Amino acid sequence: MPVYILGIESSCDDTSASVLMDNVVLSNVIANQQVHKDFGGVVPELASRAHQQNIIPVIDKALKSANISKSQLSAIAFTRGPGLLGSLLVGTSFAKSFSLGLNIPLIEVNHLKAHILAHFVVQPGKEKKLPEFPFLCLTVSGGHTQIVIVKSYNEMQIIGQTMDDAAGEAFDKSAKILGLEYPGGPLIDKYAKEGNPDAFTFAKTNVPGLDFSFSGLKTSILYFLRDKLKEDPMFMQNNMTDLCASIQSAIVNTLMIKLKLASKQTGITEVAIAGGVSANSGLRKAVSDMQESAGWKVHIPEFQFTTDNAAMIAVAGYYKFL
Ligand code: KG4
Ligand code: ZN
Repeated sequence: MPVYILGIESSCDDTSASVLMDNVVLSNVIANQQVHKDFGGVVPELASRAHQQNIIPVIDKALKSANISKSQLSAIAFTRGPGLLGSLLVGTSFAKSFSLGLNIPLIEVNHLKAHILAHFVVQPGKEKKLPEFPFLCLTVSGGHTQIVIVKSYNEMQIIGQTMDDAAGEAFDKSAKILGLEYPGGPLIDKYAKEGNPDAFTFAKTNVPGLDFSFSGLKTSILYFLRDKLKEDPMFMQNNMTDLCASIQSAIVNTLMIKLKLASKQTGITEVAIAGGVSANSGLRKAVSDMQESAGWKVHIPEFQFTTDNAAMIAVAGYYKFL
């Protein structure tokens, strides 16, 4: 008999629900919150309130589009953390009540592990090569930057992480300096496509080993622009695409240096990327290129499974359920 899992994600600013039949996704509904755009970042209180408004319609839609009745569900998986407390509480409270009401198991899921396990979500009728254990995963999101050895669905070892800002934060904070709205990562990606990545050089902080640091980059951009704007008040507007391409290149290069080092140190050449920043076209290309140049077996997630989504929570729940 197939297992039907309802996944619920509410850790930050996306309310999402998904139904999986085993590891096949039947629905993956995401309600984005627009209320944060003017604030340059997620406002926790506004996020909690928006989750409360969205959660029932989103779950209702996920069940309907999966063509599943709630009595068919085998278990409910929800994001336990990490994330914003108020946001998590909305998903957690709903998941708890729903599982009690239906008398089915409630499965807690770690958000970062779920980003990685998103690689095991299969779409109906679509062929997919799943990663083989052990593999390396570069998890890059708005809150985290980690290199992880994924030994099994449940066993993961963090071998490198950021000492300060996450990669997504580096994108978003740089974008804020450039006057772009939140989240700035996708906008930098968009403008970078038209720009020259070698136009400007920004200082990078070198951290030994497999750890990362991105706070120096932000300061470097800030001082660089302060000086340039003194000479030409229109400098930013006139150089937006080159600035974005150079910033993206700095972040992607930093990530790639550490990822290559991790592969060298562990001897693992099966490599995946995950999390919101894995949607970045520069990073996707840099990792894909390693297939040719270094013989890596590379796993690039589909766009819909890069940023926060409940299908990844449901699939993580599915393997825990088994
Ligand atoms: O995984 P995610 O949706 O949420 C967290 O768990 O944090 O990641 C969100 C982050 C944001 O910082 C956003 O700017 C970044 O992912 N992001 C991107 C792109 N798409 C999303 N960064 C660079 N290029 C993109 N195309
Ligand atoms: Zn995330």
